[in-house]
Amino acid sequence: MKKHSITIPYSEIKTDRLPTKDSELVQAALEAANNAYAPFSGFKVGAAVRLHTGEILTGNNQENASFPAGICAERSVIAYTHANHPSAKIQEIAVTASPCGICRQVLLESEKRAGSPIRVLLIHKDKILFFDSVKDLLPFGFDSF
Ligand code: THU
Repeated sequence: MKKHSITIPYSEIKTDRLPTKDSELVQAALEAANNAYAPFSGFKVGAAVRLHTGEILTGNNQENASFPAGICAERSVIAYTHANHPSAKIQEIAVTASPCGICRQVLLESEKRAGSPIRVLLIHKDKILFFDSVKDLLPFGFDSF
């Protein structure tokens, strides 16, 4: 048997040193979190995507008394994006949390639709973590080999 290991490349920068364009996207995600509906967990999440057109769209988590019916911030903005801009390519996404497994898989599909890597910005306290592709966040995500 052969043993392998995976290295996940990512970069980080202090939030107050972010370039203006990144700062815009991060700010949009942070603002979107304010409109989250999270009375059950109390955990508000915001997400912002930038399309190839430059347009920024936002989403947030929307919970439900029937817990599994709730939706994460990432999936809310991704569904909105593809529903209203079917030919749009998502270039990057900023999230105020670290995406759950389902959201990573959904992001992987958007990356496929875009035909090029989606850059991911995770807002982590006073730092931003950058991933060049969703694939870095979900090694061995569901796909055909
Ligand atoms: N949540 C997100 O919005 N995104 C994630 O990637 C993980 C979790 C939400 C779901 C739920 O409303 C709350 O955070 C607590 O789990």
